[in-house]
Order: sequence, then structure tokens, then C-alpha cells
Amino acid sequence: MFDRRKTEPDVLTKEKISSRLTTKWMAHEIVYLQTCVSTNLDAKELLDKGSLNGTLVIAEEQTGGRGRRGRSWESPPGHCIYMTLGLKPDIETDKASMLTLIMAYATAKAIHKVTGLNAQIKWPNDIVLNGKKVCGILTEMNLEQTSIKSVVTGIGINVNQTEFKEEIKDTATSLLLEGGKSVSRADLIAWTMNYFEEAYEQFISVKNLSFLKEEYENLLANRNKEVRVLEPKGEYEGVALGISDTGELIVKRADGEAVFVYAGEVSVRGIYGYV
Ligand code: BTN
Repeated sequence: MFDRRKTEPDVLTKEKISSRLTTKWMAHEIVYLQTCVSTNLDAKELLDKGSLNGTLVIAEEQTGGRGRRGRSWESPPGHCIYMTLGLKPDIETDKASMLTLIMAYATAKAIHKVTGLNAQIKWPNDIVLNGKKVCGILTEMNLEQTSIKSVVTGIGINVNQTEFKEEIKDTATSLLLEGGKSVSRADLIAWTMNYFEEAYEQFISVKNLSFLKEEYENLLANRNKEVRVLEPKGEYEGVALGISDTGELIVKRADGEAVFVYAGEVSVRGIYGYV
């Protein structure tokens, strides 16, 4: 196991990230903040003011980190990644949720590349390791009348963190805890962007996830697992089979009906645990 006294502090700088990027244009504009309320808010504001498609906002600490379904995201300084990619995609509003799946795919691939750990995706927006959450993604869309003005995709990754609040300590973990060694945040950020750019360009050209379906399903932690789907209008159980070309989770219910679950305000839990 790791000895925390021997782990060097992981210093994160813009230059370290840029030097590891192989992207053509993604994250070529990086805004690094020591502290902010939420990188999702900053990314939205920067794009509103004219920043480029693909601007990446990173903070060492967030004072009002936002989670999915109105929850907060604890964001202490020093060990984690809090970043938001600001995008101006030329897509219909009903396609924006697919960006969360693309980001989950890119992040899971980056974690594997940098740490060797087998990160899996808990549809639609969590990355898990050994059944515990290591990363969450929050995509928010900003509209101008009925069309998309910008989409911000925020990612929180527990990298070198070793302690968690009581409420989440049974379901959360970090890359350091799972792999036993400290991980470079700059490497992880750069590889996430490298994988994301490639998938994003294909998505923008075909406007669906058909090109990614097989690779995504290989990373899907819920696949062939019994799940409980919690929707605002009720809940039901079934077996998760995979995803559709447009990113819905396909769940086969006990009565044999296959339901296509749309990401929106839905939560999917394992029957026997978090995944
Ligand atoms: C979730 O699992 O509920 C999603 C969590 C998303 C957290 C990230 S941290 C960077 C970005 N800024 C925020 O305020 N939230 C996202």
C-alpha cells in the first residue's frame, strides 16, 4: 500500500497540461484558476464572452461545486481534478446528453492509459473502480431561444484523495486508493482531452454514438447487471443490456419489454450495490 508521507504533492500547471496534449484544437485555450465557485459557471461565462469552442477551465478548488440532480460536489484543494470543457456544438438540443457519454468514455480511457486501472462507466455519468465512484460528470446546456448557445461538460475526478465525507465514504474512492500510487493530474487531464477530441469530431460528423457503441459497452459497468431505474414518475427493475445509437440505456424488464432510458433526471442503481 502507499505511504502518504512519501507521496510528493502533485503540482498542476497549465504548461504541464499543454505539453502533454496531442489535440488539434481541443483545450488549446486553458483557463487555470486557484479557486472558483464552479468551473461549469466559469466555462459558461467565458463562452458567453467569446471564448473558443474547446476552452478548458480547471480549478484547484471549488467553493460551490455542483453535482447532478441538484447535489453539491465537495471540491477541496490539492488532490483532485475539477475541470469543465466549454463547447459550441452544432447539434440539436436533444443530442447534448450524448456529450456526457462521450466524456465518460474519454475519461475511462484516460484513467486506464495513465494508471493501468480498469475504469468502468456507470451509465450515464459516473466512472467506477471496483464498484466505487471515482469520477462524476455534469453536462449543462445553455440555450439561445431554442438552439444551443453552449454546452459545458464538467468533470470531477478523485485522483490523490485519501479521505471522504461520512455520507460518501462507502461508495467513493480515488485513483490513489485503488492503484496504490500517486497519479499525475496533468497526464490525466491531457489524455482525457486527447481521447475526447477524437470521439467528439466523429460525433459531430454523424450526430450519434454508433461509432462508439461497441467500445462504450465494453466499458459499461451496468452491462448484463440487474438495475433499478428511478424516474421522476416512478421506478422499475430490469437487466441493463447496453446503449442505443443515441445513448439511451436499454433495460429489459421482467415482463420482457425493452425500455430505452433517457439520461435526463434519471438515476440507475444496482440491485445489490451502487453499480
Ligand atoms: C455528479 O456525479 O453528480 C457530477 C459531478 C460533477 C462535478 C464536476 S467538478 C467540475 C465541474 N464543476 C462543477 O461544479 N461540477 C463539475
